[in-house]
Amino acid sequence: MLSIPDASFPRPPLPADEQGAKAANTSAATLDRRLSVAPMMEYTDRFCRHFHRLLSRNTLLYTEMVTTGALIHGDRARFLRYDPCEHPLAFQLGGSDPAALAQCAKFVEDAGYDEVNLNCGCPSDRVQTGNFGACLMKTPRLVADCIAAMNDACSIPVTVKNRLGVDDQDSYGQLCDFIGTASESGCRTFVVHARKAWLQGLSPKENREVPPLMYGRVYQLKRDFPALEIIINGGVETLAEAERHLRHVDGVMIGRAAYHNPYLLAEADARIFAANTAAPSREEVLERFADYAAAQVADGIRLNHMTRHIIGLYAGQPGARRFRRYISEHAWRDPSPKAFFRAAAASVSAAPATEQPEAIAP
Ligand SMILES: Cc1cc2nc3c(=O)[nH]c(=O)nc-3n(C[C@H](O)[C@H](O)[C@H](O)COP(=O)(O)O)c2cc1C
Repeated sequence: MLSIPDASFPRPPLPADEQGAKAANTSAATLDRRLSVAPMMEYTDRFCRHFHRLLSRNTLLYTEMVTTGALIHGDRARFLRYDPCEHPLAFQLGGSDPAALAQCAKFVEDAGYDEVNLNCGCPSDRVQTGNFGACLMKTPRLVADCIAAMNDACSIPVTVKNRLGVDDQDSYGQLCDFIGTASESGCRTFVVHARKAWLQGLSPKENREVPPLMYGRVYQLKRDFPALEIIINGGVETLAEAERHLRHVDGVMIGRAAYHNPYLLAEADARIFAANTAAPSREEVLERFADYAAAQVADGIRLNHMTRHIIGLYAGQPGARRFRRYISEHAWRDPSPKAFFRAAAASVSAAPATEQPEAIAP
């Protein structure tokens, strides 16, 4: 077993030539995972993803986890629905039955997604009852069977999102066993949440905060499995941090920070993907989201189902609190979307010049 120190990583800026200049994501074959927004249940629905896409053209977006049972027996069309502008787009599945996962991987491919991801990191009681999510880290052979079945059923990339370990199965050697076994069945890309999970005694929220982050283990995985694509996840709050991680791994996935401070995505195309594009202003993003929201409202969607995802747009800016308040107080009344977004933007500029920016929510 290897013993890997989890020293903090070096922090010099990423040289321009290392930032790479791959083309924007257009198909599974060219999927560029240098930056992605994490799958988050109840958060990364299609409205949220549309909003994130207005901020960054290249960042890979993930759906919420959908279980195989829901996809096979539930309202499949609703679970698979997305807007073509959301590409590049990955669908996350929860399950542990190879046949059911294979069937669902095919649904996902047929719906036009660019990637299908298997959740091996969620520690909630609900997924433990179904014997999937983080529990799967205890059964690498079963994960390998799941991946093989999914790969047989579809031709889009099958990827895995996992933890460093679970419970007392948390050594680096056991992590290597998991990655090695899963990769032998054809998985080339692993998104590693850089902390272990406790299956008993911690809530899902605590399992995102209490077990310590061990970035060094993820870097070591990349060194030990250089042919695999290793994406790091957990606790990344800024693009500067993402750039530093990219010195050691192939990609960075950001969850909570992208949700609570979405404007950080606005510079991702230029900084992470070396695209020759200027960051859109917050006001431009609002204007474009207003057009989208108007079309959705005309289709019967409640305005506040969409606006809840944008309340962090001015995080850290003067007027952020007014913006949030305006949205929470007015969106549920279902006003005309265009007028609503104009007034929401105006509420920010109404902030007195002396107002101090508030800290960004964790
Ligand atoms: C509200 C919420 C819901 C989440 N739902 C999922 C999920 O459906 N699938 C998954 O793999 N991870 C899920 N996660 C975990 C995130 O994908 C990510 O691994 C975790 O938040 C750590 O990244 P961060 O520190 O950048 O937020 C969820 C996290 C949050 C905060």
